Amino acid sequence: MQTLYSPNTLIIYLTSRDFNLIARMLEDYILQAFLPQINYLLYHRDSEVDNPSIPFEFNEANKKRIEALLKIYPEGHKRGAMIPLLDLAQRQHGWLPISAMHKVAEILNVPRMRVYEVATFYTMFNRRPMGKYHVQICTCTPCWLRDSDSIVEAVTKATNCKVGEMSADKLFTVSEVECLGACANAPMFQVNDDYYNYNEDLTPETATTIINALKKGERPPPGPQNSPRFAADPASGLTSLTSPPPGPGFGVRSDL
Ligand code: FES
Repeated sequence: MQTLYSPNTLIIYLTSRDFNLIARMLEDYILQAFLPQINYLLYHRDSEVDNPSIPFEFNEANKKRIEALLKIYPEGHKRGAMIPLLDLAQRQHGWLPISAMHKVAEILNVPRMRVYEVATFYTMFNRRPMGKYHVQICTCTPCWLRDSDSIVEAVTKATNCKVGEMSADKLFTVSEVECLGACANAPMFQVNDDYYNYNEDLTPETATTIINALKKGERPPPGPQNSPRFAADPASGLTSLTSPPPGPGFGVRSDL
């Protein structure tokens, strides 16, 4: 950038490099301001914790798993193991850095771009450092109609963490997600996937209780939180299948 200045005039010459820089700053600003949840999905920017010069290696246990996984796929179709391999990398590292993607590309012998395409398409792959507990709040239509907004408010307050961000104590990352397949028990959220599964039939109070229990290192029981129902049966009681099912031969002519 060059500037020419006279008492009445200021002329600024911008080179194409300046334009690129300004465009990138604008892009970052717009994405951060309006799309904080998805900006990390859209592109990679080298950072201190995520750049190609940081080595990534699978641990011995995962190397054995990879060996077993690759055997499932016939020769010429090994790339079918890409999602399981990316998942293993994420479980090992806690999230999916670019070096892990490169390692997967190397193992599957595919261009790195093929791995980028998959890792940035599926929201299950976390392309940024994550908190110990990933709280994914469903705000899709059925959950929204059952006031998922109040759950978002309660969780962000209890975790002291905005949607799309990680809490300062690195305990929580809060995300808004689309349908998680438990609409009959809306509203609901998912905490990680190994131990907490679905916490359903939430209210702001039960949501806060779950978050507080997680803070203490407890494991709140998954499942419906605010109703006597066992699973996805109607909240107001059964309307069908209210008696034991008739046995075999029910309704069949006795002479048959
Ligand atoms: S809409 Fe929330 S689980 Fe389906």
